[in-house]
Order: sequence, then C-alpha cells, then structure tokens
Amino acid sequence: MKTEDAIRARRTLKLRVDPQHPLPLTKGEDFKKQIQAMIELAGQAPFHHQSHEHYHSKGLLKGVEPWRFHALDGESCRKLLASLNEDKPVKCSDGIKEMLAAADALIMVSWLPERTPRLKKGSFYPNVKNMEHIAATGAAIQNLLLAATAKGITNYWSSGGCLRKPAILETLGVSDEELLLGAVFLFPDEYNEDVVKTKTGKNRESRGHVSDWMDWLQVDSGG
Ligand SMILES: Cc1cc2nc3c(=O)[nH]c(=O)nc-3n(C[C@H](O)[C@H](O)[C@H](O)COP(=O)(O)O)c2cc1C
Repeated sequence: MKTEDAIRARRTLKLRVDPQHPLPLTKGEDFKKQIQAMIELAGQAPFHHQSHEHYHSKGLLKGVEPWRFHALDGESCRKLLASLNEDKPVKCSDGIKEMLAAADALIMVSWLPERTPRLKKGSFYPNVKNMEHIAATGAAIQNLLLAATAKGITNYWSSGGCLRKPAILETLGVSDEELLLGAVFLFPDEYNEDVVKTKTGKNRESRGHVSDWMDWLQVDSGG
C-alpha cells in the first residue's frame, strides 16, 4: 500500500465482545513477528532529544529513544481480561474488557519524561523537551497505526482508560516512571457481526476542510 493510501485508509475501529465470552485466539508466532516488525518500523519516527540517561541505567529497556513499546499478544490480552473479570488488580470499565476480549494484541506505548525533582508521580514538567518527547512518541504511534493499516489490521489508539492505573501497569511490569501515551489495540479484520460490536472514532466525521486549519503566511519584503 502506498503511504498516501495508508494515511487515508487509517481509521479508528473499536471491536467489542462480551468479556465472559472472548473471541478464540487465532493468531500465532507469525503474527507476533509481524507486530515486532511493525513496532520496529514505528521506531523510525523522528526524535529530537534522547531520553534522560537515568532510564538507561536501571536494568530496564536501555534505548535512548524517548518512547517505550510494551506488547501483549492475544493470549496475554485474554489473561489480563480474566484477571480484570475478577476485578483484579482493580475494577475496570466494560469498554476496556470488551476490547481485550476481541484483541489480537495490545501495545502499551509510553514516553519517558525528563527528571524534575519534587514532581508527583505521573506528572511532568511542562518544558519544551518534554513536549518534544511526547511529539516524537506520538509520531511513532502514528507510524504503528499506518503500518497496521497497510497490513489490513484493524486498529485503535486509546488513552488506555483503566489500563493507565498504576496497579495494572505494575501487574504488567511497566515502570511507574513511564507515562502512557497510548494503548494501541490490534483487532481481527474479519469477524462475526453477531458476536462483535464495532464503533468508529467520535471525531471521524468532524474533520473540516484543510482551509479550516491551514493558511499561507505572507511576509512583506523589507520586514
Ligand atoms: C492521543 C489520542 C488518544 C485517544 N484516546 C481515545 C480514547 O481514549 N477513546 C476514544 O474513543 N478514542 C480515542 N482516540 C481516537 C480518536 O477518538 C479518533 O482518532 C478520532 O475520533 C478520529 O477518528 P479516526 O481515528 O477514525 O480518524 C484517541 C486518539 C488520540 C490521538
């Protein structure tokens, strides 16, 4: 698929299934390899600043990139669902559980804030460096969505809902120093509509014309 076609074809589509009756797992090792390749592609996004060296010296993932990608395959999605069905480690909304019941994979994408003393866990200092870490991680997530779209994989960038809760991140082994920017759900492209409910993105139809958010700047000669 050409880049322009992938950009135009990308769309949010949430798949939801009864959490007590999740979809059977159909994907295997090949799909995991495909996801790994898509994440490698996502990581070709530009980044202006390297992440703070604190993060490279902790025995966690050591990349200098400002982002971290933590992937759960379908089996891990169902295991997480099973524990959330018992309200463990915390109670979760039906929406997230319904999507875990349908997902072939979930990719938790976080960014690494600069180290600023005396800031509460989960917050970050509003400086340009942090803004650019978030921007770079957003670009990497968009790359992932485009890569998935090009492969015909249904996808959805969620803020994460209850998956943002520290207890869940701890269960998954995601450091509480990372800040979640997106929980990307990958869903099957073929499904039984009697079992699977779908929903598109709420802003999908609100997109304006390019002239609503773009203009040409005029610069007078001589300033
Ligand atoms: C940073 C970010 C977070 C998002 N979080 C959510 C979310 O938590 N729930 C949701 O329904 N959609 C979420 N979305 C998806 C948007 O609703 C969706 O992109 C928008 O409605 C436009 O639809 P489209 O993706 O089909 O173009 C998020 C998108 C972005 C960029």
